[in-house]
Amino acid sequence: MVHLYYDSRTGNVQRFINKVIQITGWEAHKIEDNTEANEFGHLITYTTRIGSIPDKTKHFMDVNAEKIFSVTSSGNTNWGKNFGLAGNKVSEGYDIPLAMKFELSGTMEDINKFIDIIKNQYNDSKRGSKKLDTA
Ligand SMILES: Cc1cc2nc3c(=O)[nH]c(=O)nc-3n(C[C@H](O)[C@H](O)[C@H](O)COP(=O)(O)O)c2cc1C
Repeated sequence: MVHLYYDSRTGNVQRFINKVIQITGWEAHKIEDNTEANEFGHLITYTTRIGSIPDKTKHFMDVNAEKIFSVTSSGNTNWGKNFGLAGNKVSEGYDIPLAMKFELSGTMEDINKFIDIIKNQYNDSKRGSKKLDTA
């Protein structure tokens, strides 16, 4: 079973996750203040405050980073060079591969691409693999 840990404030990441789990049957866990990752999985978050990582995501990663295989970030291309920057920052800061970035709640193409990346480019290789650097 693939586990997805996600952070969402205004619902875009939530909508993306809803579509992914509808298609795949994977298990999604919403990150709250004290969420613990009991299973290995993937992080999906969004970008806030001029290219920043959301506080809940940061706290989650400070505690659970060793359980996370890859990071994906939502953003808005209106933010130019800061588009989805939380994904790059998590990747660099916690040394995990960036799977991809998508805009708002993602298009069907984004959803299929995400599923494909998680399934095929990362399945059982070791954590810390840079194989996912496709974004
Ligand atoms: C205050 C604020 C700051 C934002 N800053 C950025 C940013 O720097 N870069 C970016 O790509 N998107 C930025 N966004 C857009 C969000 O990342 C985007 O809307 C995302 O889909 C929100 O996910 P959520 O609806 O799951 O919370 C910002 C949004 C808000 C409200």
